[in-house]
Amino acid sequence: MARVAGKVALITGGASGLGLATAKLMAAEGARIVITDIQKNKGPGAAKEIGGDTLFLEHDVTSEERWQQVVVETEKKFGKLNIVVNSAGIGTEGTIEDTSLADFRKMMAINVEGTFLGCKYGIEAMKKHSEPSSIVNISSVAGLVSGFQMCAYSASKGAVRLLSKSVALHCARAGYNIRCNSVHPAFISTPMVEAPLAAASDPEKARKRLLRMVPIGKIGEPNDIGYMILYLASEESKFVTGAEMVVDGGCTAM
Ligand SMILES: NC(=O)c1ccc[n+]([C@@H]2O[C@H](COP(=O)([O-])OP(=O)(O)OC[C@H]3O[C@@H](n4cnc5c(N)ncnc54)[C@H](O)[C@@H]3O)[C@@H](O)[C@H]2O)c1
Repeated sequence: MARVAGKVALITGGASGLGLATAKLMAAEGARIVITDIQKNKGPGAAKEIGGDTLFLEHDVTSEERWQQVVVETEKKFGKLNIVVNSAGIGTEGTIEDTSLADFRKMMAINVEGTFLGCKYGIEAMKKHSEPSSIVNISSVAGLVSGFQMCAYSASKGAVRLLSKSVALHCARAGYNIRCNSVHPAFISTPMVEAPLAAASDPEKARKRLLRMVPIGKIGEPNDIGYMILYLASEESKFVTGAEMVVDGGCTAM
């Protein structure tokens, strides 16, 4: 039996990186998929790669109105919603002294408000049926520990971690058949990690420096996170809610 057979999944940031890898795994395991992303040029190609009748919707996760429309369009196409993966995000570096208020607000709007809206409108749709449902929010190891240059990013990912627990507790208390968990990756080979490495003055040196921070000695693959998300989205994790799942090659064990 496929692991997410019969479920409908909405995955933000689905045109790239972890969102795209997760969408492919879920499609292979029987889910019908809606990917959304602000990158409208990449979306249709990504949907084709995922296959089946995957739907791509252009979506800026900071827009409440668009979130409402995206959920309605998902229900219109597939009849229901069981899984929301909030993967859309940005990651820029900066200390408290060199992060402007505008930069900080932008980070919070995409990483935190986007996830908040995904939970809010996801629950609204999931409540309409009694089937088991799951929200997976992509935080980061930066939501557990920080770094001097991770002011806004860490603040946003820490917020996603505790937002997820509050959502989990609310759904459990309300008796909804909806779970919510956060995933905390580190150093996975996606454009978010590869682009800054490629742009470094000495990319090889930058990669070696990064690898020194990973006990397992390599950069992770998108599927390393995708399989965790798939587990959380499936009924294999039916007793897991409000949990923070770390997938980081050992980084935070140090
Ligand atoms: N790659 C890693 O090592 C790593 C580590 C920790 C956490 N994360 C988190 O994983 C998530 C996915 O990142 P990724 O590594 O796949 O990077 P990525 O850049 O490949 O994917 C992020 C996607 O989010 C989309 N996006 C950005 N702003 C958006 C907006 N306003 N509305 C809708 N979509 C928007 C981008 O267009 C992109 O397709 C992010 O939340 C990131 O913070 C990644």
